Amino acid sequence: MTKYNPVTPEIARTLAEICGESHVVYRDAERLEPFSHDEIPGTHYRRLPEAVVKPDSAEQVAAIVRLANERRIPVTPRGAGSGLSGGTVPVCGGIVVAMQRFNRILELDKANMTITVEPGVIANDINEYLKPHGLFYAGYPMSVEMCQIGGNVAENAGGGKAVKYGVTARYVLGLEVVLPSGSILNLGGKLLKDVTGYNLIPLLTGSEGTLGIFTKIILKVIPRPRFQYDLLALFPDSDTAVAAVPAMITGTGITPVSIEFMDGDAFRQGCLDLNETLPFLDAGAVLLVSVDGNDPEMLAGQSEALGRYLQKGGASEIYVADTRADSERVWKIRRSIPEAFSQAFPRQSGEDIVVPCASIPAVVTECGRLAAKYHLAIPCYGHAGDGNVHSRICAPADWSDEHWDEVLQALLRELYAEVARLGGRISGEHGIGCKRRPFMASTCAPEFLDTLRAVKNALDPNGIMNPGKIF
Ligand code: LAC
Ligand code: ZN
Repeated sequence: MTKYNPVTPEIARTLAEICGESHVVYRDAERLEPFSHDEIPGTHYRRLPEAVVKPDSAEQVAAIVRLANERRIPVTPRGAGSGLSGGTVPVCGGIVVAMQRFNRILELDKANMTITVEPGVIANDINEYLKPHGLFYAGYPMSVEMCQIGGNVAENAGGGKAVKYGVTARYVLGLEVVLPSGSILNLGGKLLKDVTGYNLIPLLTGSEGTLGIFTKIILKVIPRPRFQYDLLALFPDSDTAVAAVPAMITGTGITPVSIEFMDGDAFRQGCLDLNETLPFLDAGAVLLVSVDGNDPEMLAGQSEALGRYLQKGGASEIYVADTRADSERVWKIRRSIPEAFSQAFPRQSGEDIVVPCASIPAVVTECGRLAAKYHLAIPCYGHAGDGNVHSRICAPADWSDEHWDEVLQALLRELYAEVARLGGRISGEHGIGCKRRPFMASTCAPEFLDTLRAVKNALDPNGIMNPGKIF
């Protein structure tokens, strides 16, 4: 384990010289606390940083990182703190670099269909800004109203529209990044093709803050679809619901925007949380299928065709939301599920398994088996169109922390072994962070891990950039 040095009062003074006194927090536990965790509930993944700095220029970030690198102090970049893998938890202490002041939209270039933003811009604000121009940024993490684009790029966020639009990386054309050495590197630009040397943008996208800190991001934008229709289809059970998806796509020839999946328990938890009184509380599983476009007639036709195939696939009832208000009502249920579970179960773990799509039923079945074996509940929901299953492992309220920890480790070892057997991975969109780090060695090939380490060591030989994550 690398040995790091503490943030001394002298270093805190230098940080204040770089960023201004009012943008440094030091030796003030109350003001450091909000920077000690992300959105993982509970007390496990928390650690107070020694200092928080809030720079507002690439030069300031570079000066902070240079100092940290010289003095061997850990640096942990932070966006909105809406992550779910502990990626922004300063597990080795040191300095948290909070990017909240990088909140400017710098340029909309309509001729090149790009928007240049700073990393602290809220993802949703990008689309609010683009709306009057008839344009659209298609990244859509489920925490869209809260998360910041820098965090989305750092985690290569997925979310609810990936079936049609792909994940964040598809839209990142350019990056300005402060490397662990403290130098400022510019990558890409407004180019749609570029094979000049190694493709470093996709390497940094999803690097979880371990290879550098973004200070500017150039995103591709596309024309904005004006309408969205959503189908909510009720199924007797999860297997039937998921099995209906491939036939629906190949049969209709339509690529939906989203194909979201909720088992009965997850769906009910979301409804309960919102006091939602939809009359289908006894469904065994639910699919939420969305299509978008500019022609309402065409969307009505597509909805009908998709509905026919869902029915053929075993849906007992189908509801169509064809107004913005109805659409928001059904999506709200889906979006509320993670928070609903966090509130309802003091001891729970949100998983982020990804498998080939056809293997989702096998994951759900395995979760059922493990739930029975370990005497707890594992409701499942997620992105059926991407094979991305959020199994939510929920312990009974009367378990002790020790018992829960022991069971969770044993259960995850079994679950992840099955996921690996199915050709899957332990994270589809939330990242490894510190939460899944202990399982990397048992679920990844040694050659893969060696290659990741070689990249990390080449860019960050002193191991100062977000240590304690991934490896
Ligand atoms: C979701 C987030 C938690 O899909 O990834 O709800
Ligand atoms: Zn998700």
